[in-house]
Amino acid sequence: MSPATVASFLLSASTLCGAAVVVAALNTPRNVRLTSTNMDLVLRWDPPEGAASDLVYTTKYKTSVTNYEVGCLNISTLECDHSSPGISIYEYATYTVAVQAQLGTESSAWVEAGPIKLDRDTIIGSPNVSLFPNGAALEISIEDPVFKISALRDIYNFATYNITYWKDGQQDKAQSISNIQQNRMVLNYLEPLTKYCVQVQINTKWNPKPSEPSSPVCETTTSEAGAPWEAAVVTFVLMSMAVALVVVAVFYHKRISHFLCPKGDLPQHFKEDLLAPPNSPILFAMRNSLPLEEIYHQVSIIASDKSTGGGCPQEAAGTPAANPLISQGEREEPGKLRAAMKLSGSADRSC
Ligand SMILES: *[C@@H]1O[C@H](CO)[C@@H](O)[C@H](O)[C@H]1NC(C)=O
Ligand SMILES: *[C@@H]1O[C@H](CO)[C@@H](O)[C@H](O)[C@H]1NC(C)=O
Ligand SMILES: *[C@@H]1O[C@H](CO)[C@@H](O)[C@H](O)[C@H]1NC(C)=O
Repeated sequence: MSPATVASFLLSASTLCGAAVVVAALNTPRNVRLTSTNMDLVLRWDPPEGAASDLVYTTKYKTSVTNYEVGCLNISTLECDHSSPGISIYEYATYTVAVQAQLGTESSAWVEAGPIKLDRDTIIGSPNVSLFPNGAALEISIEDPVFKISALRDIYNFATYNITYWKDGQQDKAQSISNIQQNRMVLNYLEPLTKYCVQVQINTKWNPKPSEPSSPVCETTTSEAGAPWEAAVVTFVLMSMAVALVVVAVFYHKRISHFLCPKGDLPQHFKEDLLAPPNSPILFAMRNSLPLEEIYHQVSIIASDKSTGGGCPQEAAGTPAANPLISQGEREEPGKLRAAMKLSGSADRSC
């Protein structure tokens, strides 16, 4: 072999090998997936087959109406969250995201994932539920999951809670209350001193999937009368009052019974007087008299008015009987005076 031949062989070999190395380094990332939870926008991928250890990745994203913009640049991790600061995404947009691998000046092809419509497709995380027992009731306090951009109530105006509760150990008999809008509510009429568990899910009209359910939280109801210390205070007061009543009753037993049921021994002569038949003739007469007949005569009282001028015959006659203030009855019987007065006032005044 001549040196020239050797040189040419080495050259072609190195060229071939070099080309092979470049092609291997530019394999695309595998298993690329785009997800959204609580309004984030995360692209994840696996490294290309046979990837070098110093491989870096770049992502780009676009909406259905805009061009691609760079997301994460030259990162060595296998995911990029496009809701991070520095990348601005909008809650109502539809996103497609792509990734490529880079090594030195060489790049792989882009691999796309999506599209995702954020507000409709995002997975709503579980709410945070706290329980506060109060007698035979449980107060439930619900915190919405925190969104990466915007807030649950801003995006889903009509979000409601679906509250499921059951007696501990009887989840098969769970009951649900749905369409709850306020984030505090009270479960009433539970059994006192019983452990209940509660799980909450959020329903939105726009996002077809309910939120992830909260992990069940359990609390034991207290006794009926309210908080334990309240019950204790009420019991103490009632007991004290009862004891005081008993003490009073024992000490003043005689006086009380005397007051309530007086023995009432009146002197004998009072009794005789009270029980004896009346012997007064007046009383006797009053008792036996027949009802008295009421006799009355009709009396007309005629009003006169001097200021109207002398059109009235009575006035002209100057009869004192025309005075309207006179009410004249006729004595039919002692003590029986009835005067029926017929006032013909208006007719008289006109005279
Ligand atoms: C990203 O990596 C490429 C290739 O490795 C390089 O050319 C470029 O300068 C890098 N950019 C930054 C901002 O580091
Ligand atoms: C849920 O609420 C409790 C009490 O307010 C708090 O300590 C906890 O960090 C919250 N958990 C989440 C996931 O928000
Ligand atoms: C509420 O949640 C329960 C338990 O997950 C479920 O069976 C029920 O269908 C839900 N109700 C509504 C209106 O979403």
